[in-house]
Order: sequence, then C-alpha cells, then structure tokens
Amino acid sequence: MSKSILITGGAGFIGSHVIQLFVEKYPAYTIVNLDALTYAGNLENLKAVEGASNYTFEKADIQDEAALKAIFEKHSITDVIHLAAESHVDRSITDPLAFVKTNVFGTVNLLNAAKEFWKDNLSDHLFYHVSTDEVYGSLHDGGFFLETTAYDPQSPYSASKASSDHFVRAYANTYGMKTVISNCSNNYGPNHFPEKLIPLCIHNIKNNKPLPVYGKGENVRDWLFVKDHARAIDTVFHQGRTGETYNIGGFNEWKNIDIVKLLCAKMDEKLGRDAGTSEKLITYVKDRAGHDLRYAIDATKIQKELGWEPSLQFEEGIEITIDWFLANQDWLDRITSGAYQEYYDKHYNN
Ligand code: NAD
Ligand code: DAU
Repeated sequence: MSKSILITGGAGFIGSHVIQLFVEKYPAYTIVNLDALTYAGNLENLKAVEGASNYTFEKADIQDEAALKAIFEKHSITDVIHLAAESHVDRSITDPLAFVKTNVFGTVNLLNAAKEFWKDNLSDHLFYHVSTDEVYGSLHDGGFFLETTAYDPQSPYSASKASSDHFVRAYANTYGMKTVISNCSNNYGPNHFPEKLIPLCIHNIKNNKPLPVYGKGENVRDWLFVKDHARAIDTVFHQGRTGETYNIGGFNEWKNIDIVKLLCAKMDEKLGRDAGTSEKLITYVKDRAGHDLRYAIDATKIQKELGWEPSLQFEEGIEITIDWFLANQDWLDRITSGAYQEYYDKHYNN
C-alpha cells in the first residue's frame, strides 16, 4: 500500500538519517518532514534528499494544533514516526518547561491530530513513537534495561519522555490507536549536534579547547551508530507488533572517560599530533545534577523477533564519525557560531 508518512523532527540528528533512509529505500512512499527548526534542527542535514520527488518539508511546531491539522489534510497522512523533541539532558535541567511543552504537550497534540484525522479507520494507521532508554532510570547494580523494566526517569528530559510514552500507550488503550514505541540507547554519528559528548569532544580536540568531563568520567553509556538506529526504526515500523515496545541498543558500554581518551588517540593520529597531545585537554568539571550512573540496553527482543542487529563495530563507527566531522568543518563552524557559543559559555563557565 502506498503510504504518506509524517516524520517529525526530521531536521535533527537522528531524524535526518531516518528521512534519508526512508526517502531512498521507499520511492513509493511520500515522506513529509515536519520540523520547527529549533536550534537543533538544520536543513543542511537533508541535502542528500532535498530534491527527491517523494520528499516534502513542512516547517511547523508540534504544539500548533491548526498547523498539524492542515498538514495531515494536505498530505493525507497515513502513518506517523515521531522523533521531534527537546533532546539534551543539560538543557532540561536549566529549562524543564521547554521539555514539557514539546515532549509532553507537543506529543499529545500530535496524537490528537492523528486520532482526529484517522477517526474513521484508526486501526489502518500506525503512530510510532521514538523514545529513549533514559525512561528506565539509572542502573547501579549491574543488569540491563528490558522492555518490562519499570519506568524510573531521573532528569526533567527523561521525565518528559516517560510522560510522552505513557500518553502514547494511553491512546492505544483508550481509543484503540495502533501504536508502537522503541527505546534506544545513546546514538553517535554524522549530524550530531556538538552539545552532546562525542561531537563536543571532536570539535574541542580539533580546536585545542578543554574537554569537559563531568564528575569523575565514570558514568557508563551504551553507544549505537545513528544509521543503525535508523535501520532499527525502519524494522520496527514495518515489522513491529502493534502495542509492543522494542529496546534498541548496541551491547556497547563505555565509561565516558574511556570514550574521551579514545577520541583523543584517534584524533591525534588523524591530525598528525604526537600521541598523548589531546589527552592533556581533558578537564574534570562539576558533575551534571542528578547524573544517571549507567544505561545498558538488552536488545535481545528486537534481534530475536525482528532480526535487527547493529551493522557496525564501535571503532568503525567512531572512525566514520570523526572523518565526517573533519570533512564537514563548514557545517560545524556554522552550528557553533552565535547561539551555540552563548550556550557553551553559560553552561561551562558556571
Ligand atoms: P535533536 O535534538 O538532534 O533533534 C530534534 C529535532 O526536533 C530538531 O530538528 C528540532 O528542530 C525538532 N523539534 C524540536 N522541538 C520541536 C517542536 N516543538 N516541533 C517540531 N519540531 C521540533 O534530537 P535527536 O538526538 O535527533 O533525537 C530525536 C528523537 O530520538 C528524540 O525524540 C529523542 O528523545 C530520541 N532519542 C535520542 C537519542 C540520542 O542519543 N540522540 C537516543 C534515543 C532516543
Ligand atoms: O540514552 C539516550 C540518550 O542519550 C538520549 O535520549 C538523549 O537525547 C541524548 O542526548 C543522550 O543523553 P546523554 O545525557 O547520555 O548524552 P550526552 O552526550 O549529553 O552525555 C553523555 C555522557 O557524557 C553523560 O554521562 C554526560 C557526559 N558528559 C556530557 C557532556 C555534554 C560529559 O562528561 N561532558 C559533557 O560536556
């Protein structure tokens, strides 16, 4: 069946890879990218597809009820893949309300728009909500997050994502909407906004600037290459069972300090610096408030049920990522001017 899929947040980091995959792999689908172009949204991320005949961009805010209604009608939307969100934990600590507005209110607004537009045949349409492993809280005593792990969000960001997940399940339960949710671990790769650990370090190493490591650098994250997340989203969208949750991760846990050291070593090599040069930039700074110790996803369900697994080893993915950032200095320069510098100075000078 021909589909007209609304992908929200398509100008962001993960969304841009999802859009590219769907536009190129499914020429018979119409792909509508709805994005408000906040500081994190960048149409440059979509250069590869901007001229494609099955791709359209709509600048809109998911909080805007009238705009959503018009976009559903204009494009006869058949399915939604919802990625638009405020995504940075540090920003959620200084401005939690922005996260409530987009991640909670915006998601409910989008659910309402879909429910209203599809009201005559709700069960023919899918609302796919893209979420995070942070909803499960922090692992302190070993183990992994399973799909059945109880929600225990600890930051304003994860609380807002948990809330949006609950609303999606409530709409399935109450109104019979066809929904699916996936909860993924930390992504890295091209187009990653340099407020996040990996691109921030790549940018700072390149410019000989301090590498701010929160606390003792002992916190652990499970990293997945962004294109593998996009492949997983494709898999869940097409093969996932309605009403189910799928955890997505790389079985690839790293302490922050070890990632930073790996980036230093790789970049010394690539930039022709003496071994050990960039490590001198490592600077331990004040810890993130309420910093979750460890996230680790058990991705067995999606592997066994849907046959998805990561395609890249971490070292390969990191090489591709560093090379991409070094080859796309203009992209980085444009993003790190102006508002980014203000954010950076305010955040790291306090
Ligand atoms: P991002 O911050 O890079 O991009 C978010 C996009 O959403 C931007 O293009 C932005 O302009 C858009 N947006 C923000 N508010 C909007 C609004 N009110 N209306 C319309 N568009 C709006 O985020 P990302 O890292 O690409 O994350 C995408 C999704 O995946 C989020 O829902 C996030 O919670 C989830 N996720 C991210 C990760 C990760 O490691 N980055 C891991 C798991 C899940
Ligand atoms: O787990 C999935 C989540 O991963 C996503 O839902 C979020 O949208 C995404 O931003 C990411 O959240 P994290 O907080 O884990 O990512 P971040 O890159 O901000 O931080 C990774 C780790 O590095 C974390 O333990 C905090 C630490 N850190 C981060 C920054 C920006 C530092 O030590 N120094 C820094 O300057």
